[in-house]
Amino acid sequence: MNVAIYPGSFDPITNGHLDIIERSSRLFDRLIVAVLKNPNKKSLFTVEERIEMIKGAVSHIKNVEVDHFSGLLVDFARKKNAKIIVKGLRAVSDFEYELQMALMNKKLYGELETIFIMTNTKYSFLSSSIVKEVASLGGCVKDLVPPVVEEKLREKFKNK
Ligand code: PNS
Repeated sequence: MNVAIYPGSFDPITNGHLDIIERSSRLFDRLIVAVLKNPNKKSLFTVEERIEMIKGAVSHIKNVEVDHFSGLLVDFARKKNAKIIVKGLRAVSDFEYELQMALMNKKLYGELETIFIMTNTKYSFLSSSIVKEVASLGGCVKDLVPPVVEEKLREKFKNK
């Protein structure tokens, strides 16, 4: 059975992430969306909120599950018996850091392969950070994030 992990901060999940999840779910038997729990990184949403939003957005895809991890991604991959990491690439600017991470992960866990999926062009400008900025300033993020996220963002920023 081919188990793949799609890791990230997902603070919050965007339609760009969802597009990568939908497309990669067709390539593997099981896809685990893994939310990084990093106490050193300031986030807008708690890990629990992020997981709940992802679950809401992927409920229509049968072979996708949502989990969280802390520490090294390779340790989580070993625990889950996964040998594939899926990453989305938006632009050449993403590549340098992604290459570095893929090579380091390979060094730490030789059987692990990182597979890159090119983002859909309609989401190539999208990131969680830019979505948060627009939402915090009262801009419309419909079509950029799943409806459950749009609602949560509105709630977060309603008194700002
Ligand atoms: O959505 P992000 O913030 O770009 O995701 C980055 C993530 C979570 C994939 C990356 O930071 C990661 O894998 N962190 C876990 C710690 C780790 O394994 N570090 C060594 C990777 S080379």
